[in-house]
Amino acid sequence: MTFQMIDLPGGIGTQVIGLNLDNDITQTEQKQLYDAWINSGIMVFKQTGKSTEHQLKLSRIFGELDTHPVKNLVTEGRYPEIMVLESNAQSKLSIYYRQQQPEQLFVGFIPWHSDLIFTTSPNHGAMLRAIEIPKKGGETAWIDTIAAYEALAPEMQERIENLEVEYRFCTSLLDARFGRDPQLQMQLKGERNFPQFPPVVHPLVWHHPVSGRKILNLSPLHLVRVVGMSQHESDALLLELTNHVTNRQFCYIHSWEPNDMVLWDNWRTLHSALGYPLGDSRLVHRTTISGDVQMGRVLEAALPV
Ligand SMILES: [Fe+2]
Repeated sequence: MTFQMIDLPGGIGTQVIGLNLDNDITQTEQKQLYDAWINSGIMVFKQTGKSTEHQLKLSRIFGELDTHPVKNLVTEGRYPEIMVLESNAQSKLSIYYRQQQPEQLFVGFIPWHSDLIFTTSPNHGAMLRAIEIPKKGGETAWIDTIAAYEALAPEMQERIENLEVEYRFCTSLLDARFGRDPQLQMQLKGERNFPQFPPVVHPLVWHHPVSGRKILNLSPLHLVRVVGMSQHESDALLLELTNHVTNRQFCYIHSWEPNDMVLWDNWRTLHSALGYPLGDSRLVHRTTISGDVQMGRVLEAALPV
């Protein structure tokens, strides 16, 4: 093996050192990288790639690449598999502040979520490559929901074993029912015409399709309720679980340097973009690794509440 893998500080995720993407990556090395991804959920590649082509080559080791279904997010012209996340599209970005610091406006903030949890086919993974870094902030954070599940008390694991939860696509962070920072205020809502997504129901405990390990399948941003439970009981349980999963002990926070690449397994992690000051510049390229697995089902209108 021409590269090394070490645990990230805190024990959540793996860092890959010494991988040279100008060389051929052998089948054996590709399998080692894929297995490490399945085993750890989050992989950090520093000083590994410096081009779009490097990012595409590395991403393809982990599966087929997809274009993001939210088509109005910007894609890079030559490569439809690259989604461009940039601050220059400032008019498209929502602007936020926190109640106690109204003068500190920031953009690029997304609270804890997993991608496409509001559909029945969430993507397996995604990779970000930082190109331009804001002077301040701009970190991305991940949570390992397998570690979060395994840390639950056995009584709680038993209680939630067969529960189902409903997700609805939430276009404004201020509409989120769970995981919302109570201090968060929106100064301006970004211009985005999101498509409609029907509500879906997912198992609260899901088995990872590759490893078979149990996942606490709780993504706060689009979370609505536990199916078949009173609202009072459902809210209390989901609040308790949200507080548990977002506990910092299952979390890795990445402070970006140019050309860092971070890959995550979207089936077993949550992520959050911590935001950066309005007016600062940020440019990130993202690839999306397809999911070929069905999760849950579209909610039937007649399903009892
Ligand atoms: Fe996301």
